[in-house]
Amino acid sequence: MDELAALRWQIEIGADEAIAEAPVDRLARREAPRAVVPPPAPSAPTPPAAAAPRSPPSAAARAEPPAAPALPTVPAARRAEEVAAAAATREELRAALAAFDGCGLAATATNLVFSDGNPESGLMFVGEGPGAEEDRAGLPFVGPSGKLLDRMLASIGLDRTRFLITNLIPWRPPGNRNPSDAEVAICLPFLMRHIALVRPRRLVLLGAMATRAVTGSKSGIRSLRGSWRNVAIPGLENPIPALPMLHPAYLLRTPGAKREAWADLILLRRTLDHDAAG
Ligand code: URA
Repeated sequence: MDELAALRWQIEIGADEAIAEAPVDRLARREAPRAVVPPPAPSAPTPPAAAAPRSPPSAAARAEPPAAPALPTVPAARRAEEVAAAAATREELRAALAAFDGCGLAATATNLVFSDGNPESGLMFVGEGPGAEEDRAGLPFVGPSGKLLDRMLASIGLDRTRFLITNLIPWRPPGNRNPSDAEVAICLPFLMRHIALVRPRRLVLLGAMATRAVTGSKSGIRSLRGSWRNVAIPGLENPIPALPMLHPAYLLRTPGAKREAWADLILLRRTLDHDAAG
């Protein structure tokens, strides 16, 4: 097979980075250590077969794959809360995240992806987590879905001088897999602290994952989008109005949903105009 085509195929299925020093063949049969059975003593009577104790199934019969890396546990989320709460500025929060060792995603990511845009703008977008291009650049939404988002927002007169943009997860999950619940629980306190430090007038939540994490709602994004809802942010006295929207990556896969996205953009533009007039 053409090696270049094989490499391209690996990249397409998400195997686009090495996360260990050596490849792991998970299909390989593993040799189980053989049990050493001593020969019976010549004088010992042989017990009847029915009375023989049942031995546990041998390790060779199970051929289990190597253990998955342990998931970060809830104590890591509690530590994340303490570390995030101690940050008094965005710069301190970024430094605290960079030094935080409680989330395994940091070990496989190339860069921490903290934010882009204008923290003084009063408008803050929250996405899900970095993809390959964001991981390389250390900036959110610079890949294909970011380019679509930029075009969508340009159509209502917004560019990155007019909003701040960040993600729920600041490190790229390997192979673009979804972050686990534990990883979300660990990253959420940092996002909440980021929002509390920025104190935006309005939030836009891109996609189901960011919407669920920030609002705490279990409803689907298609029922949550289309209207503003107040969200409580720890450390802020007043709730912040948040607009859930469809994620641009979803719109790339589902062009038919662009009608709903357009309705949300119009709502966002009208609200910002109304705020500016008030
Ligand atoms: N998708 C996201 O949610 N965030 C990014 O930064 C890029 C893609």
